[in-house]
Amino acid sequence: MPVAGRASVSGGVPARAYVAMAAVYEHMFDLQRGPNLPGMLERLAVMARSAIAPLVRQAEVADAAAIATSHVRSWQAGYANVISSEFLRSLGMGLPLRTLHWQTLILGAEAQGEFMLVGEVDGEVAGWLSGGAYRDAGSDESPLGEVYACYVDPTHWRQGVGSALMADALERLTRAGYPQAVLWVLADNLRARAFYEHLGWLADGARKMYEVGGERHPEVRYRRRLS
Ligand SMILES: CC(C)(COP(=O)(O)OP(=O)(O)OC[C@H]1O[C@@H](n2cnc3c(N)ncnc32)[C@H](O)[C@@H]1OP(=O)(O)O)[C@@H](O)C(=O)NCCC(=O)NCCS
Repeated sequence: MPVAGRASVSGGVPARAYVAMAAVYEHMFDLQRGPNLPGMLERLAVMARSAIAPLVRQAEVADAAAIATSHVRSWQAGYANVISSEFLRSLGMGLPLRTLHWQTLILGAEAQGEFMLVGEVDGEVAGWLSGGAYRDAGSDESPLGEVYACYVDPTHWRQGVGSALMADALERLTRAGYPQAVLWVLADNLRARAFYEHLGWLADGARKMYEVGGERHPEVRYRRRLS
């Protein structure tokens, strides 16, 4: 029986984890069918995945501090060996100011036709994504959607948070009527490029330079058909 919900029972263990375990025990002790180890393991894997399945929702102003923190942590881990370590270390300072910045962005997103999403795992913000209309669009180009940024806290990498955020974003861009979407990624950010390619994005040959921390880094553009 599929059970949704994010309630926690004692000790902070999510209720759905108990539901998952109950289903596995039920399967283990199904005497009529006899023991079925491969089936049990498969069921356990499915239940474990669903127990940590992220919830995607629109960001609220109250999420600003969590977004600011995970943004910095994600930069520091994700861009180590890509962007200067001195610059990455300096990002940890000024979190209150960054929080204010995110509050402003969250408040203004809808009015700008943009969206800002968070992915939650067990009630905590594990990552975020923003998107909207393509910001570099020339007047001769047909309208394009864009994923502006997608950042997951390193403690939640490879748990499907980025994929869940991206699926929601692509649905929004499709509903908004964009036939295609693009995104920019640092050419040396191989982790993110593998992630995007896994989700069907392809480099379209466009490049530009991105200035950060006094350095210039090449960026490549990825594109994906919508609908
Ligand atoms: C890139 C990023 C958003 C991916 O988020 P995530 O939640 O870890 O991604 P998912 O768990 O949904 O991964 C989906 C698939 O992408 C691919 N992928 C993700 N991380 C990968 C990695 N480090 N190496 C190779 N493939 C990877 C895999 O195919 C993965 O599926 P699998 O785990 O079943 O093998 C995350 O690593 C991140 O925040 N990085 C730092 C910030 C950043 O670079 N953002 C992009 C800026 S343009």
